[in-house]
Amino acid sequence: MSFLNIAQNRYTTKKYDPNRKIDEETVEKLKEIIRLSPSSINSQPWKFTFVSDENIKSKLSEFSYNNKQKVRDASHLVVFSMVKDVDTFENRKLNLLPEGATTYYNRVLKPKGDEQIMSWLKSQVYLSLGFFLSAAASIGIDSTPMEGISTDEYDAILEDNEYKTLFAVAIGYRDKDDSNQPSQKPKFRLDRDKVIRTIK
Ligand SMILES: Cc1cc2nc3c(=O)[nH]c(=O)nc-3n(C[C@H](O)[C@H](O)[C@H](O)COP(=O)(O)O)c2cc1C
Repeated sequence: MSFLNIAQNRYTTKKYDPNRKIDEETVEKLKEIIRLSPSSINSQPWKFTFVSDENIKSKLSEFSYNNKQKVRDASHLVVFSMVKDVDTFENRKLNLLPEGATTYYNRVLKPKGDEQIMSWLKSQVYLSLGFFLSAAASIGIDSTPMEGISTDEYDAILEDNEYKTLFAVAIGYRDKDDSNQPSQKPKFRLDRDKVIRTIK
């Protein structure tokens, strides 16, 4: 499938087939793909937690608002987290990067202060979301990006001291009757002239 076809056909799955699980080989492929996400100065300020344990998935579903049933029925839940603070980023990640990256960080980003650095780090994790959704669709995996979760409760359940939850993605296979799929509900996007500007 061409990338254009993938863009036309991927969609936010609203109902999963609870009986279809993603096989381990495919899950491993997705883990490798997400590991390869690009980020500014290769900062990689993220952690991706793949949850298939039904007990943990069920606990997380209770803190997933309208997404509860999707979390329960999906094959896996991938929780996207970022380093919890600037110190953790500098101690755990920055010193693994090449000198050019650290120089840029110290000269350009550090003077902006912690709030802006955290915002910059967060945007790197969102970038990996786009990468992941497209990649999943390209290998026939349906997905649901979800900001509609209680991140504090997720953190309490996942018990990771160095990372905090930003959002999650349910992955699996659609229920054949999912009414949100493009064959039943045409994709809505703003017209090209509203979002694309061409300067020749
Ligand atoms: C960052 C982000 C968070 C989202 N959060 C939710 C969510 O909590 N629940 C949900 O059902 N859809 C969620 N969506 C899906 C969007 O509503 C959807 O991508 C948008 O309407 C476009 O539809 P499409 O993905 O089917 O093309 C989210 C999408 C993004 C990118």
